[in-house]
Amino acid sequence: MERIDLLVTGIGRLVTPPGDDPRCGQQMKEVHVIMDAVVAIREGRIVAFGTAKDVLDLLIDAEIAETIDVGGRMVTPGLVDPHTHLVHGGSREHELGMKRSGISYLDILAQGGGILSTVQSTHMASEQDLYDKAHRSLNEMLLHGVTTVEAKSGYGLSLEDELKQLRVAKQLNDTHPLDIVSTFMGAHAVPLAYKGRADEYIDLIVDEMLPKVAEEKLAEFCDVFCEQGVFSVEQSRRILLKGKAYGLLPKIHADEIESLGGAELAGEIGAISAEHLLAATDIGLAAMAKHGVIPVLLPGTSFNLGLVKHARARDMIDTYELPVALATDYNPGSCPTESIQLVMMLASLNLKMTPEEIITACTINAANALGRGDRIGSIAVGKCADLTILDAPNLAYLPYHFGINHTFGVIKDGNVIVWDRTIVAKESGREEGAR
Ligand code: NIG
Ligand code: FE
Repeated sequence: MERIDLLVTGIGRLVTPPGDDPRCGQQMKEVHVIMDAVVAIREGRIVAFGTAKDVLDLLIDAEIAETIDVGGRMVTPGLVDPHTHLVHGGSREHELGMKRSGISYLDILAQGGGILSTVQSTHMASEQDLYDKAHRSLNEMLLHGVTTVEAKSGYGLSLEDELKQLRVAKQLNDTHPLDIVSTFMGAHAVPLAYKGRADEYIDLIVDEMLPKVAEEKLAEFCDVFCEQGVFSVEQSRRILLKGKAYGLLPKIHADEIESLGGAELAGEIGAISAEHLLAATDIGLAAMAKHGVIPVLLPGTSFNLGLVKHARARDMIDTYELPVALATDYNPGSCPTESIQLVMMLASLNLKMTPEEIITACTINAANALGRGDRIGSIAVGKCADLTILDAPNLAYLPYHFGINHTFGVIKDGNVIVWDRTIVAKESGREEGAR
């Protein structure tokens, strides 16, 4: 071992799920914990990790360019947020009163508000506006310890505006230290201009949007809001299979409010993940387990919508042995928060997940929901050196001491980008616009 670019020392507790594969069922509880640890990094990859004694013996002749001491803090793999609607214009606090007076999420949408209101704001916004707003959210996520985030389109609902959102996500990926993974979600709602003509809008998605998104390589995944009054199972199948033919792996907003059969569809078409799942049936969960679909649960959304019902995480883990992942669902309507740590707390409170299950869901299972289990999501030799440094003595402390940010530092691809709760990285390329 001749050269080390960065040696991270003074790790009081190094915590990671093992391996690259999704951790299913009871495996979600098995995390490796190493006390008094170090991590050695070269060219952005982990080259050694373990107890300080073992690794320092190994590095006795190595030339170490830089050493940082994290002061006895806990270190986990960089957190992965595998479901967000990152790029959008405006906000929807004007709907708060309607929500509080008891008007449902789907009723607000049916009245032309909700997603359709954000579609209008996104249409009016310039690329620079969208970039600046999403950039601020990415900084917030980073400060909370997230190193990779998924970003869906779906507030364009026209060829031009869907491409606008996706191009902004691509620019952000090129310039911001976080990795952004794009999902095309032209089927997020039926636009007002196509009211009552959903199938004609789907023609536009499959004939014009998908070919262009694929040609410009603007997304890796294709997602559909399969829900009563939005897109049916048949319509979702048509879009997702066409997306698959263009090389976009299927994801699906499934059974969030009504038991429509979205989980069953996810199994049938071999989706990489199915999201929400509050109303998923046993048959649906069994189909997901049979076909290796990852459930991405979004407890911030059910909390913020004031629902009494929550996703059945315990059944998913204990009965169906599924590899549960967690995400914020950050969006301007059902879940306006970038905080994955709030989601961790809600996963404990409302989904009854254990601290070990929660960290597995936010790291290796989330990484696999983005097809990146071989690169990120765990601390292992050869994987990207993405690490989150936490001001917390142990995993249980994260959901226990709630409503604050525990992240002290973040290392991304071997570079220290957050230190002492401050972003210290320089950015490449495009600058943030003046505000
Ligand atoms: O995942 N359910 C559909 N889409 C988003 C909400 C989008 C919005 O309300 O703007 C979700 O919750
Ligand atoms: Fe969503």
